[in-house]
Parts: sequence; structure tokens; C-alpha cells
Amino acid sequence: MYGNMGPGGPSSRPANRPEVNVTQSEPINDSRKGVIASELAWHEQEAHRRISLDKLLYDPPAFDPVVRSTLDFLQAGPGERVLDMGGGEGKETLELARQGLVVISVDLSHVQLCRARELVEAARPGTRIVFIQANAEELPFAAGSFRIIHGKAIIHHLDLARASGEIGRLLADGGRATFAEPMNDHPLFRLGRQLTPQLRTRDEHPLTFRELRQFGIHFGNSSIEEYFLLAPLSYPLRLLPGGEALFRRIHAFLQRVDRRLFDSFARLRDLAWYGVIKIRK
Ligand SMILES: C[S@@+](CC[C@H](N)C(=O)[O-])C[C@H]1O[C@@H](n2cnc3c(N)ncnc32)[C@H](O)[C@@H]1O
Repeated sequence: MYGNMGPGGPSSRPANRPEVNVTQSEPINDSRKGVIASELAWHEQEAHRRISLDKLLYDPPAFDPVVRSTLDFLQAGPGERVLDMGGGEGKETLELARQGLVVISVDLSHVQLCRARELVEAARPGTRIVFIQANAEELPFAAGSFRIIHGKAIIHHLDLARASGEIGRLLADGGRATFAEPMNDHPLFRLGRQLTPQLRTRDEHPLTFRELRQFGIHFGNSSIEEYFLLAPLSYPLRLLPGGEALFRRIHAFLQRVDRRLFDSFARLRDLAWYGVIKIRK
């Protein structure tokens, strides 16, 4: 069902495919296989519905603070290999490639990986990226294959116990991983999710900060940052003709307000829209 997709197409062998030497965890049971199949089908057939929403929410510079913070933490030098877990349609894959990293993008969905390849090819023709279609809960790489693992909006699609086991297995000693995840309790996004169930998969499960902290406990050393409380209120400005400049100013201002609020009232952190977990092994 899964395969790899090198730069030449779905059946070509990637030039720098890591050695395959899988340390197997428990096999995935039938009920989990059903969830994975349904995630795959949704992302192959329905994910296009989200494209304009994702553009609104994530187009630069809206997400720059998260991207900057994760890249700073990963301390990746040009030429280093990075696993982009659940790389999807490639926004972050492209950003990692821009940093000069050798990106291995893994995603369940072949359609998403094709979108990513088109995006990267249009923005940086000739960039070498290895695209692999696989389930992030059981990846075809040897233990300790990666010093750097990156993920955005992927953990909440996964079985947390399996995902933490797999990330721990794949990370080399001294390695670093970051995951930026949409969280469950921001009132606006919570309402949005209830009103638009067609824009997300049946089984995804935005995490609470409590769950994210528990996820972090599986790794010796992890920390969590919160992003975006009031700042998302500025998104409607982006929809107005000529509203982008005003959006940028208000969004930047509200992010500073958010930072003050998170610092002054710790309980508000649980309502942040995004949580970023930074892991060291
Ligand atoms: C919300 S998108 C995020 C994509 C990208 N990281 C971004 O932020 O633009 C989630 C991605 O995870 C992929 N995905 C879901 N379940 C997966 C799994 N079990 N293994 C690998 N990828 C998975 C989906 O196909 C989808 O492309």
C-alpha cells in the first residue's frame, strides 16, 4: 500500500534512501489499520477542500514565529538530513529545503506528496527532496536514522503511543525533534471545527496541552511553547480587498499582546491555538 516516491516519480528509487533495517514495534491491529485507511482516503480525496483555508491561516508571515522558533531549535546546518513527518502538501518541506537541508518528506498520502513536489519544483526547481509514502507510526528507517525530525500538524493524526515510540526510535542520540500542533481548546477554532467537520478527517484529534505534555514525558527532555490567542482575530482582514497590509500589522501587534497575556496569566496558555513541542534525545 505504501511506497517511496523519488524525484522521478512514484516508482523511482530515491537517490539517498536510508538503509532499511526496521526495528519493529507491535504490529498495527485491524482497527488501527481501518483508521489509517480512512485517513489516507480523506487526504487523497478531500484534502483539496482545505487549500484556501490553509492559505488564509498559514501564508507568510502569519506562521513565521512558529517556523523561526522550530528552525532555531533544530540547529540544522546546510546539507544535514531532516525527516519531515506528515509533510503533506509541502509548505514546511519547502522551508526546510530553503535552509539548505536534505529533506525526506514522509506522508500517508501520495496525492499530498505530489502536491508537495509540485510546490517545491515551482519554487526551487531542481531541489532534491525524497518523498516517501508511508505511515508515520511505522516508518521504514533504521533506529537512530535521524538527528533532526520536524513535523507540523501531524501528531494529532497519529496514535500518540505509537508516534512517541517511533519518534524515539528514529531519533539518534543527541537528536532533536519539533512538532507544531493545532490545539483543541482555542474557542474560535473549536467552534470552527464544529461548524465545518467536512474540512477535517473523522479520526484526527487536536490535542489538549495536557496531552501534549504527556506526549513529551516519553522523551527525556522536552519543552512546550504556546502560540496565538488573540492574533487569529485578525484573519478576517486578510479577506478584505487590500487588507493584507493591515492584517500583518494587527496580527503582529496581537501576537505581542498574546505573549504578554501568556506571561501574565499562565492559564491562558491552555487556550492557545498552536502548541510547539521541542524534544531532545
Ligand atoms: C494537516 S496536514 C499537515 C501537512 C503539513 N505538515 C503542513 O503543515 O502543511 C496532515 C498530513 O498528515 C498526513 N498524515 C495523516 N496521517 C498520517 C500517518 N499516519 N502517517 C503519515 N502521514 C499522515 C496527511 O496525509 C496530511 O498530509
